[in-house]
Amino acid sequence: DWTMENFIELQIKKIREQVGNKKVLCALSGGVDSSVVAVLVHKAIGDQLTCMFVDHNLLRKGEAESVMETFEGKFGMKVIKIDARERFMNKLRGVSDPEQKRKIIGNEFIYVFTDEAKKLEDMDFLAQGTLYTDIIESGTSTAQTIKSHHNVGGLPEDMHFELIEPLKTLFKDEVRELGTQLGLPEEIVWRQPFPGPGLAIRVLGEVTEEKLEIVRESDAILREEIKNAGLDREIWQYFTVLPDIKSVGVMGDQRTYDYAVGIRAVTSIDGMTCDWARIPYDVLERISTRIVNEVPHVNRVLLDITSKPPATIEWE
Ligand code: XMP
Repeated sequence: DWTMENFIELQIKKIREQVGNKKVLCALSGGVDSSVVAVLVHKAIGDQLTCMFVDHNLLRKGEAESVMETFEGKFGMKVIKIDARERFMNKLRGVSDPEQKRKIIGNEFIYVFTDEAKKLEDMDFLAQGTLYTDIIESGTSTAQTIKSHHNVGGLPEDMHFELIEPLKTLFKDEVRELGTQLGLPEEIVWRQPFPGPGLAIRVLGEVTEEKLEIVRESDAILREEIKNAGLDREIWQYFTVLPDIKSVGVMGDQRTYDYAVGIRAVTSIDGMTCDWARIPYDVLERISTRIVNEVPHVNRVLLDITSKPPATIEWE
């Protein structure tokens, strides 16, 4: 009968049989899926696994550090961190169309990954955190045409990897349970979904260093306050966005002309539909006050009260 213990045992056996004494590469994003797959594969074959973590400069505050701490530090895994920040920023310069941004980031990710993988010798397998829902979603035309998701099918064509996808029969909640059983920290197991293109689709229009900084800092404040209020598990996704709006404000006796930051927080089962989260007013007040006081160049905070449909979760 199906239990998580049986599942783990069975997958470990399968991975060992498939891999033998060969080597496996895994692209670690810090998200739940790739984290769980990396730890599972590591449990099966230890140092035959090498993880690659690409810092594309579109990560949330503290994310790169926490990934290295957890996987290299706590789990003792081989993790190569690639600093591709400049590469991505150069590619994104002057680009403001959302789908264009997604394409550039998806492609650049593959180029960086391929370049770096070539430097490693004889990697035969690629481990991926593909879930059941990823396969379903990328198979339907609607998900593809509304927004191109880059979770599936990103395998470099000139690389002849064999795939290892031990999560492909699982749903998100099962992956979380698996992660817990494998000893992953709560903050990773319960991490909210984070899109592949990262903060680039939360800075509306052209992505600049200054705008990324505003989103990164305001997002960190929002996350901290949501967690402090004990709301982090019931809200499916919560983040800030930076629309390309400047408005007039006043600070001290100075007139300001600065950015408005939007708060997006939704409850959902699977991300396909969502309702906007009813965050208590006192929590919203703390978030708003802190963002305006602590994040330079922000003088206004907005709250998104739209469900999906008709809106999407992300603003781009
Ligand atoms: P939307 O905005 O389409 O988002 O309602 C639904 C879920 O998908 C995530 N999302 C993405 N994930 N690449 C990803 O890996 C993408 O381009 C992308 N766009 C949206 C979004 O964060 C939400 O969880």
